[in-house]
Formats: sequence, C-alpha cells, structure tokens
Amino acid sequence: MNTILITGANRGLGLEFVRSYVAEGARVHACCRHPEKAKALSEVAGDVVVHKLDVTDGLRVAGLARALADEPIDILINNSGVFHRGAGDFGKIDFDSWVEELKVNTVAPARMVERFVEQVAASERKLIVNISSGMGSIALTASGDSVIYRSSKAGLNMVVRCLAHTLAERGITMVAISPGWVTTDMGGAKADLTPADSIAKMRAVIDRLTLADTGRFFNHEGEERPW
Ligand SMILES: NC(=O)c1ccc[n+]([C@@H]2O[C@H](COP(=O)([O-])OP(=O)(O)OC[C@H]3O[C@@H](n4cnc5c(N)ncnc54)[C@H](OP(=O)(O)O)[C@@H]3O)[C@@H](O)[C@H]2O)c1
Repeated sequence: MNTILITGANRGLGLEFVRSYVAEGARVHACCRHPEKAKALSEVAGDVVVHKLDVTDGLRVAGLARALADEPIDILINNSGVFHRGAGDFGKIDFDSWVEELKVNTVAPARMVERFVEQVAASERKLIVNISSGMGSIALTASGDSVIYRSSKAGLNMVVRCLAHTLAERGITMVAISPGWVTTDMGGAKADLTPADSIAKMRAVIDRLTLADTGRFFNHEGEERPW
C-alpha cells in the first residue's frame, strides 16, 4: 500500500486528500502548521501521522526529512498554498504579500522536493504532485488581476517543468495539476466544485500518471493545460 506525504493537510483540499488516501488504506504523513488546532485532521481515522510543518521553515522541512529518512514516500503532494485576494491588483499591490506567496507557492514546493527526493526515489510509485492553478497559466491569462498569485503559480509551473527534467533519470514523475474552482476557504462558497468532487477527479488523474506524463500540467479533468 502507498505512503503519501501531504502539505497543508489540515483543511480544504489537503484535508480531503488525506481522507481520500486513508479511506483506501494508505499510510499518510499529514503536515500542517498547527497540529494542535487541526481538529478535523485529528478526527480522520486510519493510518495518519500528523507532523508540524510550516513549508517556509527550512529547518523544519530538513528535520522532517531526516525523521522520515528511512521511509519510502510513494506520492509527495505539495498542496499548501496562499492567495491574498485583492493584494495583487495593480495600484494596490502588497509587495510583502507577494514575497509570502512566492515563499509558500513557489519556493516551498522546490524545497520539499530537494529534501524528500531520496524517499520518493526509494518508493514504488515515485510521484510528485504539485497543486497549481489555472491562474498560473501564462497562455490562458486574459486579465490583469491577481498578479501576485498568478506569478507565484506560474513560477511553480516552471519549478515543475525544470525539476521534472532532472528527476526523470531517477524514474520520478513530477506534474502540476489545477484542482478546478473549489469551495474551500481559498475558493469561497460560490466555487463550482466541492473538495470531495475535486479530489475524486484529481485522484483519477493522479492514479494513472506514468513517467511519460512527467513535466506536464493537467487540470482536474485530466486535460493538459498550456503553460
Ligand atoms: N480552492 C480553489 O479554488 C483553488 C483553485 C486553484 C488552486 N488551488 C490551490 O489548491 C491548494 C489548496 O488550496 P485550498 O483551496 O485547499 O486552500 P485553503 O483551504 O486556503 O488551504 C490552504 C492550506 O495551505 C496551508 N498553508 C498556507 N501557508 C502555509 C505554510 N507556510 N506552511 C504550511 N502550510 C501552509 C494552510 O494552512 P493553515 O491552515 O495553517 O493556514 C492550509 O492548510 C493551494 O495550493 C491552492 O493554491 C485552490
């Protein structure tokens, strides 16, 4: 059975990923910033190990990687993300928010891959999934709003593309996937999909990924998206 490591596992899509994998008997390392406040996560019954992890904290990431050094990780899911809505609109750009979004959305996934690559390489599935966004597609951008979030996810997409080339020789598959517009704290109540719907669709995509897919950008329906 697979071992999965998920960041931002306390709410939204991360929590739903945990529920989905645990339901099929997987072992899940569920990372979140504040385990003591993660009530819904603590209520997931099954093989879940909760770890305290702020993905921007390099020492913590390295420490967790050392603690799990002997544990193959079949699927690393870089899910943590931030979106300061309105802060990226021209005329009122909040540059501190921009730096934070780059740290969480762009830099942290690369750091997780650097630190956990040996555990992924030692696994059977050898898969790294990065939760991106359609808003990170340069080709599909048709408005000027949200430059902070869009650029952070476009940056993530480039991280995926670059590292996929490097990691292919170790047999590791690395992709970007957008979850659709989902009713989480980030997506808001008017979104199209529930977290359970989005995760079911993404799981169908993730489950059939092979090395031939590495370096690609998919949506939750499995359609390839332009960079
Ligand atoms: N919802 C959508 O419509 C949508 C659309 C496109 C892409 N996405 C992407 O999907 C992913 C999940 O988003 P969501 O909708 O589930 O959002 P969410 O409900 O706002 O959850 C965001 C998660 O990221 C965690 N996080 C934020 N900063 C972190 C940090 N420094 N270290 C560790 N964890 C951190 C949060 O932890 P705390 O609880 O501690 O803040 C939370 O668990 C994100 O990458 C997002 O960009 C979402």
